Amino acid sequence: MNNDHFLEIPVALPSNSYRVLVGTGLLARTGEFCADEKISGRCAVITDETVGRLHGSVVMDSITAGGYDAHLLAVPAGETSKSMATAENVVNRLLSAGLDRGSFLVALGGGVVGDLAGFVAAIFLRGIPLVQIPTTIVAQVDSSIGGKTGVNARAGKNLIGSFHQPRLVLADTTTLETLPDREYREGFAEVIKHAVIRDAALLDTLKPSQPRSSLSSVIAHNIAIKATIVKEDEMERTGQRALLNFGHTIGHAIENVAGYGTLLHGEAISLGMCAALEISQRKYGLPASDAQRVREKLLAYGLPLRLPENLDADTILAATRHDKKFDGGNIRFVVSSQLGTARVVKDVTEDDLRIAVDSLRP
Ligand code: NAD
Ligand code: GLY
Repeated sequence: MNNDHFLEIPVALPSNSYRVLVGTGLLARTGEFCADEKISGRCAVITDETVGRLHGSVVMDSITAGGYDAHLLAVPAGETSKSMATAENVVNRLLSAGLDRGSFLVALGGGVVGDLAGFVAAIFLRGIPLVQIPTTIVAQVDSSIGGKTGVNARAGKNLIGSFHQPRLVLADTTTLETLPDREYREGFAEVIKHAVIRDAALLDTLKPSQPRSSLSSVIAHNIAIKATIVKEDEMERTGQRALLNFGHTIGHAIENVAGYGTLLHGEAISLGMCAALEISQRKYGLPASDAQRVREKLLAYGLPLRLPENLDADTILAATRHDKKFDGGNIRFVVSSQLGTARVVKDVTEDDLRIAVDSLRP
């Protein structure tokens, strides 16, 4: 008897509706689900060397069994693969493998693979379909949904990119069993972010001791939050989608200054959220007890509340200026005055940013 089961969350966008399936046993049914979506043509599964070794053969076997001609293409694991050089290398390998405008890509991995493969899918022969198979918490609750794809520039995170919605997302929670502990815990920064901006009650349901095998409903709930926000503002024009950037202005600057791969993405976002909480509390009325509640949850997942010793506040502040959230010289900063809600403000000053970064000193 097959005990595998999954939940289905629709992402209903005006021109790009698709399904997100969350549950167990999905990897082994990749080919079947692609056929259900009428996805056709030659396929390349883009992954990283770690995930490819662990989960590549199940996906490849399933796609091949579905009648597709498939190639597996691995890049080195880690944030440094989110680069123009890697994207160009992948494009050249796809051309050598004979992929054409009728082909499609499958992104099998964490947010790095998803962002990189998504970007390549957006630019390869002016765009081909993409299936996301996220294998980290970050990727399952956040990066695989909503169509933001891209690579990093020397000046900052995600400065080169495109919107390219996937045709299908398969979030198989059994892949989380092989995630190392640090990579598992970092993912909860984005989950806690969802609680801060949309659903304060979610904070109380998060238990670090919860077995990974029982995470489907937490993941599905977070996907639904992300899907709702993306639906409200697919192209980040009204300010709704920008709320997902809570903690990211300073977090991205810290990630860049530390050197990609030194702090994991979620660890940098934990620090960025602590800075955003400080500004929210000091200037926008967030009760101190609420800010403390969020910090305690970050700490419970082993996420950092203080900067590593070697990071310099001035360099971090300089790096925030390259953020996309700067608009005509003014920063658009996400704050929360009450847990479960957030808004974009334009009156956060350089001094506010400095005080917030100083508050993270060890
Ligand atoms: P990642 O993709 O680098 O994965 C972390 C590590 O875990 C890697 O070494 C990877 O090889 C390994 N790994 C992945 N899945 C595994 C598994 N199932 N078993 C064992 N090892 C596994 O990092 P991430 O935290 O998933 O993603 C971070 C990236 O996502 C950042 O670049 C960030 O900017 C991006 N992101 C994008 C969006 C978006 O909307 N596009 C949203 C959030 C984050
Ligand atoms: N991760 C931010 C967004 O998708 O908008």
